Amino acid sequence: MKIKFKINGKAVELDVDPETPLLWVVRDELKLKATKYGCGRSMCGACSLHIDGDLFRSCSYPVKYAEGKEVTTLEGLSEDEEELHPVQQAWMEENVPQCGYCQPGFMMAAAKLIEEIDEPDTEDIKANISNICRCGTHPRIIKAIKRAAQIKQAKTSSL
Ligand code: FES
Ligand code: FES
Repeated sequence: MKIKFKINGKAVELDVDPETPLLWVVRDELKLKATKYGCGRSMCGACSLHIDGDLFRSCSYPVKYAEGKEVTTLEGLSEDEEELHPVQQAWMEENVPQCGYCQPGFMMAAAKLIEEIDEPDTEDIKANISNICRCGTHPRIIKAIKRAAQIKQAKTSSL
């Protein structure tokens, strides 16, 4: 079945089984490898991406539901190729990753959170982000999300 959607601003049309999880279409058909497979059961968040601006776990999202939608992965998070997204900048400043495997999913969840809450505190972050990091980088992730919110606000106020 032909499925059409946009990914990171680019229109694509793919002939795939409509029940295929979007994760595998993104990774195997479109060769965008930031989005990761962790549990495959919507529990760990490694496969998180945005669909029409909302956060989804793509391991449990049949590609047929992406028809006509806009999908964003970490590769397309920054709308401007010359400029990092606040989450990317904060992640670098706080030197967050250890092995790095879970980080794209956390970053997509963080980007959504700072859109919804201007200044998230630790409780907001814990309440809204349930991703899992087996390396235990959560303390740095919390710092980086707070920093990303500051960067976003500074950018917005300088416009
Ligand atoms: S791989 Fe999708 S939530 Fe774990
Ligand atoms: S940095 Fe290794 S799993 Fe999170």
